[in-house]
Amino acid sequence: SDPDLVARATAAKAALGDKVFVLGHHYQRDEVIQFADVTGDSFKLAREAAARPDAEYIVFCGVHFMAESADILTSDTQRVVLPDLAAGCSMADMAALPQVENAWDVLVDLGVADRTVPVTYMNSSADIKGFVGRHGGVVCTSSNAKRALEWAYQQGEKVLFLPDQHLGRNTAVLEMGFSLDDCVLYDPHKPGGGLTPEQLRDARMILWRGHCSVHGRFTLDSVNDVRERVPGVNVLVHPECRHEVVNAADLVGSTEYIIKTIEAAPAGSAWAVGTELNLVRRLALAHPDKQIMFLDRAVCYCSTMNRIDLPHLVWALEELVAGRVANQITVDPDTAHHARVALDQMLALPG
Ligand code: 13P
Ligand code: SF4
Repeated sequence: SDPDLVARATAAKAALGDKVFVLGHHYQRDEVIQFADVTGDSFKLAREAAARPDAEYIVFCGVHFMAESADILTSDTQRVVLPDLAAGCSMADMAALPQVENAWDVLVDLGVADRTVPVTYMNSSADIKGFVGRHGGVVCTSSNAKRALEWAYQQGEKVLFLPDQHLGRNTAVLEMGFSLDDCVLYDPHKPGGGLTPEQLRDARMILWRGHCSVHGRFTLDSVNDVRERVPGVNVLVHPECRHEVVNAADLVGSTEYIIKTIEAAPAGSAWAVGTELNLVRRLALAHPDKQIMFLDRAVCYCSTMNRIDLPHLVWALEELVAGRVANQITVDPDTAHHARVALDQMLALPG
């Protein structure tokens, strides 16, 4: 990275001292991650944000929904900054509040809403988390989806899972013993979700039709291809991958789990990793004694995660030094209150 920008980021952080705490998601660029006080998956970063009451400013190097969650979990006097406001998440954008309210109305009309618990993946807007909190549900991340679903099925018989169909299906089928027929796919662009009343009444798991475009690039062919090319390779993927990919993989887990698994792997072992490229490249560099490769031949970065680059980070930090809070992320108090209920429920899950 540009030595001038590195020096400026270092100086700005030093000038701010304990007033600033920089959180970095594992998909961030190397040039940014070097300035993170803590790195983590979505769950760890949410906990870290909640555990820093003394930091006046939380600079979130990640995407919009993560910064919103940090704002919800921190106190009113703390301010959360996202260095580039265009760092969104296409999956989170696939569930808009009016669409989810429509879906809920469909369940109300069928007489099943009172037995349905909404569960939303962290990768959703604060509005959606607020909706889930209002209706007795819970937030989950890729590292606690099973525990969140187990909790939800103690509260009701049916789950409406937002917005990642793959995390929902993979957790229900591969970790909880559901059949594929227990799950239905609700398409928000079709009347009634494109499902019959019987399908909605019978389903135990109503999956929202959302997905991650980055993880959606991995296919069963990617897995078969790497197994052919590299005999003995271990296939390690994120649960946002399609069902057939996760089913064919050896191990599945969050970004933090992926890192810990590679760290614990014996020297000489081979790993094909199905997740965002910044993370896979860093893992390969950090473990030259292991053979670490990207699961697919094509390269895939998360373009929105990549929007946070060193120039944006330097700008955000220097604004704070100058006494200005640029790109502050705020959630309105009513939404934040209900979203916090659903986030706190997640943080209280056992284990
Ligand atoms: P993790 O919680 O595993 O870090 O995943 C977050 C994310 O956005 C993956 O696409
Ligand atoms: Fe969203 Fe996928 Fe990027 Fe994660 S990797 S932030 S789910 S688009």
